[in-house]
Amino acid sequence: MTNPFFNRDIISIKDFSRPELKYLFSIADKVDSLDYERKKELGRGKILGLLFFEPSTRTRLSFEAAMLSIGGNVLGFAHPSMSSVEKGENLADTIRTIESYVDAIVLRHPMEGASRFATEVIAKPVINAGSGTEEHPTQAMIDLYTIMKVKGRIDGLNIAIFGDLKYGRTVYSLIYGLSKYRPRIFLVSPPQLKVKREALFGIDDKIKVSEHKDITEIIEELDVIYVTRIQKERFPDPHEYEKVKGSYIIDSELLKSGKDECIVMHPLPKVGEIAPEVDNMPNAKYFLQVYLGKVLRSGILISVLNPDPYSLIDS
Ligand code: CP
Repeated sequence: MTNPFFNRDIISIKDFSRPELKYLFSIADKVDSLDYERKKELGRGKILGLLFFEPSTRTRLSFEAAMLSIGGNVLGFAHPSMSSVEKGENLADTIRTIESYVDAIVLRHPMEGASRFATEVIAKPVINAGSGTEEHPTQAMIDLYTIMKVKGRIDGLNIAIFGDLKYGRTVYSLIYGLSKYRPRIFLVSPPQLKVKREALFGIDDKIKVSEHKDITEIIEELDVIYVTRIQKERFPDPHEYEKVKGSYIIDSELLKSGKDECIVMHPLPKVGEIAPEVDNMPNAKYFLQVYLGKVLRSGILISVLNPDPYSLIDS
């Protein structure tokens, strides 16, 4: 397959096919197997712009770590208050300016559609690092890659997505990503935090999706539990947040009632929805997701920035 990622924007995981994701996972595997010196050659001379209009630990720092690990450089800001946005400069002018300095841009923004808008303003590749409640496509790529690594497949698995399904952008990207495979999806949430209806349009024709209020009813069937925190910052009314705050938790007792090999995933940060003792259980895979995040994002950067990553890696 010729590199389907070269010079391409990554705005929605919907835009990528299963063979294209397989290609990316294979590049990430190859990069991960290289030694330090070989890796350092892959991104030499390239510069990545990191524009974060919202807080981030993993996404920003793993893109930065990934770029540095392949010998490239990064510039940008971790908060718009550190830029001329603070003086009133608009998003289009900010992005146009930074395009002059870099080979690709990673953008996190609170507004839905911000990354898509960026692609209309500049020619260089834009990678969506989270756009409002809409999508977080590279997180979903990491999530799929992690399931593949741990379970060896996605087809045929019973996967629960559990927690705040309404405001969690990783949830939407994960549902769209999983729909390219053949798992069964269980959507488990408090009634106020059910997934937006439109997210399932066209999805439940392709794979079996069911909605639940209580995870204990289905725990014995599950191979994967993907937990999300309540996205406090996205509630239009703080009183609504107070009603659901602390309303669910995954703990060791619950996990012991499920399959031994059921894994627990989380895009992080976690803020109380996973009991601390779970961190030390073999089921917990969220810090593996963190590690694989850097690996997969190295694969993304090499593939977006080079026409033929395989020849670069194998040379
Ligand atoms: N998973 C994720 O997007 O984490 P950060 O908000 O820390 O980037």
